[in-house]
Amino acid sequence: MNKEKKRKGRSPFVAGNWKMNKTLSEARELAKSIVKASFNLAGAEIVLCPPFTVLYEVAKLIEGSSVQLGAQDIFWEDSGAFTGEISGPMLLDVGCQYVIVGHSERRQIIKENDDIINLKIKAALRNNLFPILCIGETLEEREKGLTLSRIESQIENDLKNINQEEAAKIIIAYEPVWAIGTGKNATPDQAEEAHQYIRKILNRKYGNELANCAIILYGGSVKPENVVSLAEQDNVDGFLVGGASLDAQSFIKIIEKSIEVKQK
Ligand code: 13P
Repeated sequence: MNKEKKRKGRSPFVAGNWKMNKTLSEARELAKSIVKASFNLAGAEIVLCPPFTVLYEVAKLIEGSSVQLGAQDIFWEDSGAFTGEISGPMLLDVGCQYVIVGHSERRQIIKENDDIINLKIKAALRNNLFPILCIGETLEEREKGLTLSRIESQIENDLKNINQEEAAKIIIAYEPVWAIGTGKNATPDQAEEAHQYIRKILNRKYGNELANCAIILYGGSVKPENVVSLAEQDNVDGFLVGGASLDAQSFIKIIEKSIEVKQK
């Protein structure tokens, strides 16, 4: 596959993870501004991941635009007595195409482990949702030189019993835990090293074609000011943006700059 062809297929892809932010009226305002701007951002795939409470409203607002919808979590069963949980069929019904799985905030604060994350990925795939699987090392792991082995073990465990056809639907987001919400992003070299390694593991597990086409996002303190040098890395196909996705102008700038770099 030539480089030109694979580039087009996989980037840029920019998703906004709103986390536990935005009331209904705030969500409406933000989504409306992004939808308006999206008509001039055809070169990128744009996904909004708002909290559950506003998914339906955002789904209505993005109708007729290229903006797509993702949820921030999914339960591993499809229905039943699971108080407080949200299932794949519910997410699909409300208009989601994507779902974030394994975010480090859920791994660390809610204590989700790789077994749970594996079940959630399977639930997403079974319900025709594209999982955005988040992986990444802690500061302690990086300082001990364990970054790449941590990434590898997360991929191995989170993708257990996932076949090639299923794996082709998974987007991986490399989000070093120490870079999330800290203002301290990974350097472009650090991001590229991790992304290259992720592609290598995918190559080994699922073959060259899947690895070349896989969308691998970077997340962790992405802002309009640092996005260019990160986007310039060959294996960085886009971004999973937290804080800077809560403001329409900064999120739109990140998308504009990503398109500019990737279309060069
Ligand atoms: P920040 O962009 O706020 O660092 O968050 C990144 C993130 O966790 C996206 O999922």
